[in-house]
Amino acid sequence: MGIKIKGCGYYVPELVASNEDFSKIVDTSDEWITTRTGIKTRHIANGELAYQMGANAAMKAIKDAGIELSDIDMIIGTTVTADCLTPSMACLVGKELGIEKAMCFDVNAACAGYVFALDIAHKYLACGDCKNILIVSSEIVSRMVDYTDRSTCVLFGDGAAATVVSYSDGEYKSYINSDPQGADKIFAKIPSTPNPFRTQTPDWSDERMQEAPELFMQMAGNDVYKFATTIMPEAVKKASEKAGWETADLDIIIPHQANIRIVQTAIKKLKLPEDKFYINIQEYGNISSACIPLALSQLKEMGKLESGKKVCLVGFGAGLTYGAAVFEY
Ligand code: COA
Repeated sequence: MGIKIKGCGYYVPELVASNEDFSKIVDTSDEWITTRTGIKTRHIANGELAYQMGANAAMKAIKDAGIELSDIDMIIGTTVTADCLTPSMACLVGKELGIEKAMCFDVNAACAGYVFALDIAHKYLACGDCKNILIVSSEIVSRMVDYTDRSTCVLFGDGAAATVVSYSDGEYKSYINSDPQGADKIFAKIPSTPNPFRTQTPDWSDERMQEAPELFMQMAGNDVYKFATTIMPEAVKKASEKAGWETADLDIIIPHQANIRIVQTAIKKLKLPEDKFYINIQEYGNISSACIPLALSQLKEMGKLESGKKVCLVGFGAGLTYGAAVFEY
């Protein structure tokens, strides 16, 4: 049993920060950012909340799918930058949309979040418990970016994308995993409220995590780079193998948009033509879990997702999480 992406939609904030804008706040240049990452601009939330961006994208996806709000059985939110610790972003999106009954929860699998959510959706569709699942990926990465750290702040942007997923007869296979030993490679600690009873400060077992300030994202960029360039081609191969396909059979590959050099290395390792890979990093930067569904949405808008096309989504991120899903569109 496969999946059908019935509807897509996305929303990006109007505010845009260019590489030149970054060169005014940290010691960097358009030349460095462009050649090392492929990024030119990124959108930054300017008052929007993650659930509001997500609901905006969701409305478009629901309209595109041609279904009613009452047809949605489940809302899966994917985010690492939710507006609330609780409730889930999915519940907030459901409230905003006016949905009264649906199973709502969030998945935190960082930049691989959409691939993880799609896999969960597939299982609920396959067992027959759900007919229409709304996946809403919305990220305000800018709320945890340290704008004094030139090695991370230039990489990330904000935005949201949503898809309505339902059952199809086509193929769907996935290869999804995590390497929790790399949990300290990208992280952002949650600040706590002051508490009159506490006498001890938390003692993180990892020294780097212990020392890091709360809230601001920390990243071991070079380690993540090595991990990503290894894991991306491997996940694409393993998911394709599970479907009984050669990687050359894939028509469209949507990689997580973290760094263009990571994608180019994967292209070389997979020995596939570059034009099979959809890349929009130049405009959006890394929007964590929203990258892949935003790309899906744009491809659909361009009319490039014809029925029967063999699609591969491949993501990786903090955790360290990674995974690929292959399916017939
Ligand atoms: N502008 C100018 N110089 C910068 C810079 C910036 N924005 N960011 C880092 N540098 C400097 C470094 O300080 C270093 O200077 P030094 O040699 O004087 O110490 C130099 O550039 C080289 O740094 P390095 O870290 O080796 O650069 P790099 O080519 O590996 O690129 C990343 C750094 C972060 C872009 C790259 O490692 C990367 O993309 N990693 C993966 C990150 C990622 O994708 N994270 C999200 C996963 S979902």
